[in-house]
Amino acid sequence: MDKVKFTQMKDGDREDYEFLTAHEVAYTEKTAERLLTAMKDLDASLSGYQITRLGHSVQAATRAWRDGADEDWVVAALLHDIGDIYAPYNHDEYAATILRPFVREQCAWVVEKHGDFQMLYYGHHVGGDRNKRDRHRDSQYFDDCAEFCERWDQSSFDPAYADLPLEFFRPMVERVFARKPYDPAVIRAGERVALTDAVVAADRAG
Ligand SMILES: [Fe+2]
Ligand SMILES: [Fe+2]
Repeated sequence: MDKVKFTQMKDGDREDYEFLTAHEVAYTEKTAERLLTAMKDLDASLSGYQITRLGHSVQAATRAWRDGADEDWVVAALLHDIGDIYAPYNHDEYAATILRPFVREQCAWVVEKHGDFQMLYYGHHVGGDRNKRDRHRDSQYFDDCAEFCERWDQSSFDPAYADLPLEFFRPMVERVFARKPYDPAVIRAGERVALTDAVVAADRAG
């Protein structure tokens, strides 16, 4: 069997669906690989800044890693703008949707809302509301998103910064997307982990 027998889903039988499930498992194992390829497409997106969107993403992840952030944070920083390719008007939600099954709830929330928080830095220059983030004041993750944007997002447009290469982050992306989706031990609902760890950061600085 190399294809299902049905042309309408309602006509499929157990054999068809067992065959598809096996295919799906093999396909999902390559998610990390596809995401890293998509990251490279970010190199061609959105011109005008001093660095490309890929450069910005890698720089955000590099800063996170050098701050001693854990793997959820580093991968979230790397992928936070991946939505720019296909969802320019809700790129934050798009990226959060990709991350949500595989990272802490805290990190998915921060990625989902980072667009509103970033307005603080430029909203007033474009006739927007720079305090748009205030609608999220009640969230337990408000301060985390504010810190994410201040430390890693708004700061990462510097062509002179010494970025680590995208390949450096490959094993982290592979590990995160190899996790069991929606595992409560990964999601850790309601838990906050600091973005920075001075001991780890000192260790990584060598
Ligand atoms: Fe963004
Ligand atoms: Fe960004």
